[in-house]
Amino acid sequence: MVILGIETSCDETAAAVVTDGRQILSNVVLSQLEEHRPFGGIVPEIAARAHLEHADRLVAEAMRRAGLAFSRLDAIAATGGPGLIGGVMVGVMTAKAIALAAGKPFLAVNHLEGHALTARLTHGLDFPYLLLLASGGHCQLLAVLGVGEYRRLGTTIDDAAGEAFDKVAKMLGLGYPGGPAVEKAAAAGNPARFALPRPMKGRPGCDFSFSGLKNAVRLLIEDLPKPLSERDAADVAAAFQAAVAESIADRTRNAIREVAERWPAARHLVVAGGVAANGALRETLMTVGGEGGMDFIAPPLNLCTDNAAMIAWAGIERFRLGLTDPLDFAPRPRWPLDPTAAKRGGAGVKA
Ligand code: KG4
Ligand code: ZN
Repeated sequence: MVILGIETSCDETAAAVVTDGRQILSNVVLSQLEEHRPFGGIVPEIAARAHLEHADRLVAEAMRRAGLAFSRLDAIAATGGPGLIGGVMVGVMTAKAIALAAGKPFLAVNHLEGHALTARLTHGLDFPYLLLLASGGHCQLLAVLGVGEYRRLGTTIDDAAGEAFDKVAKMLGLGYPGGPAVEKAAAAGNPARFALPRPMKGRPGCDFSFSGLKNAVRLLIEDLPKPLSERDAADVAAAFQAAVAESIADRTRNAIREVAERWPAARHLVVAGGVAANGALRETLMTVGGEGGMDFIAPPLNLCTDNAAMIAWAGIERFRLGLTDPLDFAPRPRWPLDPTAAKRGGAGVKA
């Protein structure tokens, strides 16, 4: 089985061809970094236009690298949400057009499910497992029980983890995108020089919070001499990164305990999403997993950040179960993995 995947929900235009034998035949990603950099963040209008401009060419390139014609595909999958609606519309439209022209089934994939199932593509992992999904729009702990079957154990009550990285990077003048810039600065910093809060640490449950930490960083920076020295910026970045890692570690320990009780067959702690590319966080989680009796699994960096291989793979998982979608599928700006989980209030909460 061979499926083409298309991803356009954020600031990456991506196309990939993947087989049910877990082979990635092609995986092309075009980042819009340069288009958004002057604005210090993602501008939805610019993103949508860039997707429109590049989607066809990226699909053609993915097919060329895979050495296949559309007629050889079993189905076409695209991210159907959640995400920036203009971009999602472009990907869905492109996939529907190919599906219609080639007479193949269409699959609308939940972007979060793409992240959630990546470890099955890279490691052939069995259900169930515990997943930390930390990206620019989300920070959740989920029990992954099957395709389309998720139980949310915790989520952020305010900002997403990646959002906090991006804001802190901006405050430190490190530019965009923030996560990799903060990680790079932190590598040269002393995490112990400044004391920052560990949000939610010690509380029951698995919810996250990052806005208080972000505010603490802002106040800390206000008190430092301007312009910020490289040393000060590095030390703040290191302190922030350590606080995020420790806070996430605390929440994950609670999740491991809960999963051990409710789904004792789960043996793996998996990370996914852009923030999972963070080395310090990966190290912390490896320790946390080990202590909780779970093996830690982290997909390679290029499959943690947004990509279309994960969309093609989630498409394969769904196609195997006969879960195709009609051509009148409407893109979904919001699309929680666990619709039974309680809605969280507050600004910036996306699921
Ligand atoms: O999953 P993703 O590529 O896109 C979304 O679906 O949101 O995640 C992007 C987020 C951004 O906030 C980015 O700053 C963060 O992931 N990120 C990182 C790192 N690389 C990307 N955060 C911390 N450390 C990194 N190395
Ligand atoms: Zn993502």
